[in-house]
Amino acid sequence: MPPEGATPAEVRPGGGGRVRLAVMASGRGSNLQAIIDAIEAGQLPAQLVCVVSDRPEAYALERARRHGIEALAVPARDLPDRQAHHDRIAELLDQRGVELVALAGYLRLVPPRFVARYRWRLMNIHPSLLPAFPGLRAQEQALAYGVKVSGCTVHFVDEGMDSGPIILQRAVPVLDDDTPERLAARILEEEHRLYPEAIRLYAQGRLRVVGRRVHILPAPEPAG
Ligand code: GRF
Repeated sequence: MPPEGATPAEVRPGGGGRVRLAVMASGRGSNLQAIIDAIEAGQLPAQLVCVVSDRPEAYALERARRHGIEALAVPARDLPDRQAHHDRIAELLDQRGVELVALAGYLRLVPPRFVARYRWRLMNIHPSLLPAFPGLRAQEQALAYGVKVSGCTVHFVDEGMDSGPIILQRAVPVLDDDTPERLAARILEEEHRLYPEAIRLYAQGRLRVVGRRVHILPAPEPAG
């Protein structure tokens, strides 16, 4: 803890306007699609430079190709270990001048060196209200615990599992007749709004990280 009265260090990520973005995804890529749609609708000041997947068959890569976005398959089996795998991914991202990396259903834990390299430039989306239910099958965990409200979280990635500073959260009610699939579908609808919004705030330079807290600055007044 800083001594009382001391100003905590503040980080101001992003803010450069149209952000050079990469998405990393292992699966179907519906969050990726929401990001693509927001960019194409002119609602998100970002250029999606490439989509990276550890699974060559991931539908996320197909979505990228359909929108003329570079699709990069980087399977782990081609590299000796997790570190080397993510060093290779980082090399590809850096070659393309990627500023912000958005994990969207990326099923591998990124190693500390990757986290450090993209500190405050690496986000993840998780289908629960963190810190409740980190890890896999968060919607199942929520139902098994019996919570009445769950939701989704976009956070900066740190060295832990789903433990980094929270950027945005959205609550979703849990209904008595929910199955994991039904709850997941309802949460997913919110995810698709929340992730583009978090990236927009980053691009607009409206995030301030103070310790574990991420403050959101108000939108600037329109000029004129
Ligand atoms: C989402 O529920 C996301 O929160 C979690 O993995 C799922 C990915 O879904 N991290 P999709 O591939 O974006 O459709």
